[in-house]
Amino acid sequence: MRFAAVFPVAALFVATAAAQDAQLVEQAKRRWAESPHGQMLERILPPTFELHQLPERRSRGARLLIRYCVQCHNLPNPAMHHPAKWPAIFERMVVRMRGRGNLGELMRDLMAGVEAPGVGEAGAILAYLQKHGQRPLDPKKYPAVDRPEGQSFKLACQQCHVLPDPRRHTASEWPAVVARMEKNMEWMNRVVGNRPEADEPQLKIEEINAFLIKYARKG
Ligand code: HEC
Ligand code: HEC
Repeated sequence: MRFAAVFPVAALFVATAAAQDAQLVEQAKRRWAESPHGQMLERILPPTFELHQLPERRSRGARLLIRYCVQCHNLPNPAMHHPAKWPAIFERMVVRMRGRGNLGELMRDLMAGVEAPGVGEAGAILAYLQKHGQRPLDPKKYPAVDRPEGQSFKLACQQCHVLPDPRRHTASEWPAVVARMEKNMEWMNRVVGNRPEADEPQLKIEEINAFLIKYARKG
């Protein structure tokens, strides 16, 4: 790498920072894995989203997210929620980090080693989450979402977050995202030990993909 040859010290710094972040994630995982509530914590967010997928990976916001937000569960993806939704969720998490959250009993044994962000850090994390948040589908632009062709998508895809704007991805990208969401559903359902009920609506993957592909971003 040319960069490394010309600026060996800078390159070393970048490599070290990345290694430190990975180490933080490992340490946190070990801590909550050892908690008696580890199983519940592990299922709060899926493990499908990894450090290298974070937008602006080296920004202050991303690094603070890594430092504070993997202390109790897997890494949150800023794109999971839209900007208007993040402040309330973020506030719930900060209160918890300060040791005053709900799930008090459950959290008490974990709280001993948990760090809370300072005011400036909290502002930077929230700004980062909102900057890279999900763009919600605007039903005025996609009236089809309320017609039969949109029903499977609508039923399945607004259980954990708002319906995503179909133009977020191209037709060739969507099926992989939908497949990952299927995994997320399996993972997060196991939090409460759900078993599929006979009368529960089945996931109609083909219909969901057909809808998203039809309205996807071109090129
Ligand atoms: C002290 C432990 C703790 C820390 C640290 C923590 N969380 Fe959480 N988080 C939880 C618990 C417990 C839940 C499940 C209950 C709930 O949703 O409030 C949760 C749930 C979530 C969810 C899923 C809930 C939803 O509404 O989608 C998201 C997203 C999330 N956290 C993001 C974050 C972010 C971002 C940070 C860092 C700013 C963070 N968490 C830090 C304990 C924590
Ligand atoms: C069980 C909860 C759950 C359901 C149901 C769900 N998602 Fe998600 N979604 C997540 C989580 C968790 C993330 C963040 C982690 C990730 O990206 O895998 C996410 C992130 C996203 C993102 C932003 C990331 C990206 O790659 O663009 C999109 C778009 C998305 N979901 C689309 C969908 C669609 C389409 C469906 C319906 C098939 C769906 N989701 C159903 C949990 C869910």
